[in-house]
Amino acid sequence: MAERLISGTLSKPDTALEMTLRPSLFAEFTGQAKVRERLEIAVQAARQRGEALDHILLSGPPGLGKTTLANIIAKAMGADLKSTSGPTIEKAGDLAGLLTNLEAGDVLFIDEIHRLQKTIEEYLYPAMEDFKLDIIIDQGPNARSVRLALPRFTLIGATTRSGLLTAPLLTRFPMRERLDYYSAEQLQAIVLRSARLLNLEIEETGALEIARRSRGTPRIANNLLRRVRDYAQVRHDGRITAAVADKALAILEIDENGLDEMDKRILETVIVKFGGGPVGVGSLAVAVGEEADTLEEVYEPYLIMEGYLKRTPQGRVATELSYRKLGLKPVQGGQPRLF
Ligand SMILES: Nc1ncnc2c1ncn2[C@@H]1O[C@H](COP(=O)(O)OP(=O)(O)OP(=O)(O)O)[C@@H](O)[C@H]1O
Ligand SMILES: [Mg+2]
Repeated sequence: MAERLISGTLSKPDTALEMTLRPSLFAEFTGQAKVRERLEIAVQAARQRGEALDHILLSGPPGLGKTTLANIIAKAMGADLKSTSGPTIEKAGDLAGLLTNLEAGDVLFIDEIHRLQKTIEEYLYPAMEDFKLDIIIDQGPNARSVRLALPRFTLIGATTRSGLLTAPLLTRFPMRERLDYYSAEQLQAIVLRSARLLNLEIEETGALEIARRSRGTPRIANNLLRRVRDYAQVRHDGRITAAVADKALAILEIDENGLDEMDKRILETVIVKFGGGPVGVGSLAVAVGEEADTLEEVYEPYLIMEGYLKRTPQGRVATELSYRKLGLKPVQGGQPRLF
């Protein structure tokens, strides 16, 4: 989902800042230890054999490091990375242009690969599997298919919705890695590293406070660090302590569990408008004024992981924890009451 809005007040990630803070080596990449280890082994093995790396699919919620890892992998392979995204490849010719411009060992990064058109996807199959591209030249009676040989390249696909990938595409990735939300300790390490790169004065407890409230997401942690830095500079002496972080985050209306305004609106809607659920994602999206896709990609995974929501075949259901979070009491067959 590239550089999209994350949520409410956190809005647009600062692209220049993301570039500065983005780790470029495996050693600088915090967390995701198993994924990292598997990727490092694959890279080292391919390098030893002098071969191109196998195709890799990276999946997981926005801001967890998919683009970062793709860049790290390419760099570790000593390869060039050419970057594109599913929705920008409109015609088979666009894909042919990209593929024929690759050199042996290059990495082609396709972001949001779940949004590739099906017709284009079909051109990708032989390219991934046999390094061949069938293109049609000319039109009408002169039309004929020509088979081009492609250099051995590595496709790295990134997706926030691996569930939307077709089986033929999925199975053409020998390596499939899913990134998970980060722990508060891992995010704390990321915040401390970012603070160092930005020359900020920060206490470990200040970093932990930001980390705990970042929805398990490095991009959000870095964004919050920036907001807290502003507050520390304007209202204090610039030093980020736990108390300063806490006050700054309160102004941003990010609560102690890291839930933001939209998270809380979702929980409140399920409970108050839909009696605690089950409610379908479509109805819920309309009620909170957000796209169903965004609900499923950005908000739900975290709310489900933290135990606020449950996904059932009938729809989304609020858990006891959500009621408590909002200070409401579940009522059998009726509207929830305040405690
Ligand atoms: N493991 C990590 N260690 C340190 N910083 C990280 C890590 N993962 C991500 N980041 C930081 O978070 C930012 C966002 O990561 P990235 O752009 O790779 O996410 P993404 O998964 O590609 O998101 P999207 O789905 O929105 O494209 C990076 O610029 C980087 O600064
Ligand atoms: Mg990305």
